[in-house]
Amino acid sequence: MSNIFENIKEAPKDPILGLTEEFKSDINSNKVNLSVGVYQDDSGKTPTFESVILAERKLIELNSSKTYKPIDGDSIFLDESLKLVLGKDLYSEFKTNTFGFNTPGGTGALKLASDFLFNFSKNSKVWLSSPTWPNHAPIFTSSGFHVENYKYFDMKNNNIDFEGMLESIKGIPENDIVVLHGCCHNPTGADLNKDQWIQITEIIRKKNLVTICDFAYQGLGEGIENDAEGVRTLLKNLDNLIICSSYSKNFGLYSERVGCLIYHSKNMNNYSSVQSNFKKVARTIYSNPPSHGSDIVKTILSDEKLKSLWEMNLSEAKNRIINMRKSLVENLVKENCSRNFEFIINQKGMFSFTGLSSHEVNQLKEKFSIYIVNSGRINVAGVTSKNVNYIAKAISSVI
Ligand code: LMR
Repeated sequence: MSNIFENIKEAPKDPILGLTEEFKSDINSNKVNLSVGVYQDDSGKTPTFESVILAERKLIELNSSKTYKPIDGDSIFLDESLKLVLGKDLYSEFKTNTFGFNTPGGTGALKLASDFLFNFSKNSKVWLSSPTWPNHAPIFTSSGFHVENYKYFDMKNNNIDFEGMLESIKGIPENDIVVLHGCCHNPTGADLNKDQWIQITEIIRKKNLVTICDFAYQGLGEGIENDAEGVRTLLKNLDNLIICSSYSKNFGLYSERVGCLIYHSKNMNNYSSVQSNFKKVARTIYSNPPSHGSDIVKTILSDEKLKSLWEMNLSEAKNRIINMRKSLVENLVKENCSRNFEFIINQKGMFSFTGLSSHEVNQLKEKFSIYIVNSGRINVAGVTSKNVNYIAKAISSVI
């Protein structure tokens, strides 16, 4: 007798996490992992921030209970998350009509947003930037949505195709859902400037699009406040906004799975109905959030000393990435690389869209054990002063 399990076909490997599995089994001692977006220090280790270690010590001393958190999470954590994303001024202005949901990572926030919206907007399409994080489309299609792309990046000029983006977004039907990247665009590293954010926000407002802002890298591009410029422009001008933030990267809390969905509405009438429906959806996906990661974030953000130590830890990470961008380009020039990669210097956050073809990416893996996502995206935070010349030599030799 056959059963359903016997007919299941192998699922494809995850385009990002699958590469790390391959990297781990590679025996080349020079191997370099530039695939998954995880910060590494100059010795190639993913450090636990000192602020996180101190917060964990404090938590052990407190010896607090492991009972369930509320469905939406700890109220102090949520309040601190709002302050961080909204900033001081918008927090005072909007705190009564903005709520948060502690989610298992930024991915959990996106899934919560997606399942919630599908309950009320089944016929809407979800519009993603082209290109985007490879997990975006599967998250939205898994809720039942049909996914489309708007123009974002010009591969020839290695920069944003802003005219193309404006035109595409103007063409999105009213009430459809658009997903924007708040900063450190994944995978390109190419961000909108202040004026471009204003223009995009105005179109979205006029067209009444439902907007999700994926905000997973606050602080890793140009700093905590500057990186929030786009999100805050959306907040000021849109009637409704969903923000999906993550503490994986800016607190280095990858495996703790801690993120936050933030919902803002200018219409108070329906505010509590929306909140109750988010609760209903969260209950069916993960019931209530894990506590350790959010307790660390709460402890740091609500303690002035720990908060300024965290800001220093984060700023060091951001500056190291900026320096590695410069160093990689300098090394490529030194190796007489036949292609100009100077645009890498201007890209923001962990990632750079290098323009390397999938053939070149494959050659880098086969010949040099350098692991890069097939789209040509590199995690600049995986470049160190020790491996930078090896990477530059290898790239120069495959192109
Ligand atoms: C990435 O894009 O590499 C990170 O966001 C990690 C992930 O979950 O894909």
